[in-house]
Amino acid sequence: PDPGWTVDADVVVIGSGIAGLVAALRARSYGRVLLVTKALLDEGSTRWAQGGIAAALAPDDSPQDHLRDTLTAGVGLCDPEAVRTLVTEGPEAVRRLIDLGTDFDRTRDGAIALTREGGHHRRRIAHAGGDATGAEISRALLAARKAAGGIDVIEHALVLDLLLSEGRAAGVTLHVMGEGQCDGVGAVRARAVVLATGGLGQVFSATTNPEVSTGDGVALALRAGADVTDLEFVQFHPTVLWLGAGARGQQPLISEAVRGEGAHLVDAAGERFMVGRHELAELAPRDVVAKGIMNRMRETGASHMFLDGRHLGAAAWERRFPTILASCRDHGVDPVTEPIPVVPAAHYASGGVRTDLWGRTSVPGLYACGEVACTGVHGANRLASNSLLEGLVFAERIGTTLGAELADPAAAPRATARSRRTRGGLAVVPSPEAGTAVLTSPGAGLLAPEVRDEVQRVMTAHSGVLRSAEGLRTAERELAALAARNSGEPGVAAWEATNLHTVATAIVRAALTREETRGSHWREDFPGRADDAWQGHLVSHMDGAGL
Ligand code: SIN
Repeated sequence: PDPGWTVDADVVVIGSGIAGLVAALRARSYGRVLLVTKALLDEGSTRWAQGGIAAALAPDDSPQDHLRDTLTAGVGLCDPEAVRTLVTEGPEAVRRLIDLGTDFDRTRDGAIALTREGGHHRRRIAHAGGDATGAEISRALLAARKAAGGIDVIEHALVLDLLLSEGRAAGVTLHVMGEGQCDGVGAVRARAVVLATGGLGQVFSATTNPEVSTGDGVALALRAGADVTDLEFVQFHPTVLWLGAGARGQQPLISEAVRGEGAHLVDAAGERFMVGRHELAELAPRDVVAKGIMNRMRETGASHMFLDGRHLGAAAWERRFPTILASCRDHGVDPVTEPIPVVPAAHYASGGVRTDLWGRTSVPGLYACGEVACTGVHGANRLASNSLLEGLVFAERIGTTLGAELADPAAAPRATARSRRTRGGLAVVPSPEAGTAVLTSPGAGLLAPEVRDEVQRVMTAHSGVLRSAEGLRTAERELAALAARNSGEPGVAAWEATNLHTVATAIVRAALTREETRGSHWREDFPGRADDAWQGHLVSHMDGAGL
């Protein structure tokens, strides 16, 4: 759509979670920063993060150990250099968060209290307010933004498309609701665009993600021709509160930290079914636990499993997990006296807009950080509590890059070229580092708001935890049919539905192409372990124009 108004900035940051706020705070030293956010400043995914932020802070831990656990969880698809960057810069970045005012929980002697989560062989998860880590980080960063000044904000602003000038990002178009001068569709012209739009969990019927997580950044990047990668690796969190068959929308998360503090997964007969399935039992990497739960549900014909934390005792529940305790009790379940019914639900996109180690995407002037980005640290399956850390570390790096590039665009180091191999658009990927295949999925015009529910139904039925060629082909057909018969009128609900459809189509294409089971991508028709021939990445592109 044509913009009705225009504003100018040096840097426009889209999204106000940990990644967007840190990028904005860093970028303000180098020019005029405009932060735009889809709802209110604190309404993204960050504030829902419970367990914490992982970093090698304990005396018995090291970045090397953190690296090892991250690579193991990523099942051969992590970029080791990206992981090394994450784990070595992580501890100092967390200390800078503390300097900014984040109040992490402490032990009696004043050290940062650390817990464990799935896939970690050490206690390395810092937390705040017991189980309200994201809310505390969000509070501290928002206060820091206010105190720092120099960052203008537009709320209720849905990003539509990237503006390009001579192949370079030159701003974005937005739809803003009720912000005075900037009401309706408009444009921000900027020298640099930072995508920090978060996740895409709303592609599925049941997710831990808030309503706003509709994959807007990935959809924008696809429309702009940026490389988007690893989309098939959508992580399902093993334990959300089971609210009955067919529960939809955002589901209450039961943090991995509850298992980290000793709760057990059991079936209806009380048997600990993860014991014997993995050396870490309930604390195996997330994909292993989600699959363990799904398998046990199948074996027993049950609709859910249980998380038994009664032995933690009332005092520990109240001190360590006040948010989860209240949320369970609100739904009629008391974790102090009864096991919590749990199922897996869509949680995190390990893939996203491909970046180099400095947050640069394949489109000059476009940067990405946080869940929308694929920096290479997660591979086929993100290690628990690495997401807040990734948002923090790579947003700081974008700040550094902007400092150099805005001062002297010619002097800035170029993005590392990563090789790409195609064979008829759907190449089999032959070798670890270089292996990359490009997939192209069809673009759709603007779709009607009703498409949102249909996309969620199709994706949950055919492209969820368990996938097969047959189901994925059905999803592909149904998504194409939805696009063919549901054109929409411009408006936020239509743009969101279109973004969900675009992202879903690209996920299905990637999931169908990857004929193996690896990390969070579980193909029932290729049930064995990851296949060496597939140790590479799929890059998604889209045919089609902007909104
Ligand atoms: C949790 O608290 O279990 C979520 C942590 C994460 O997604 O990393």
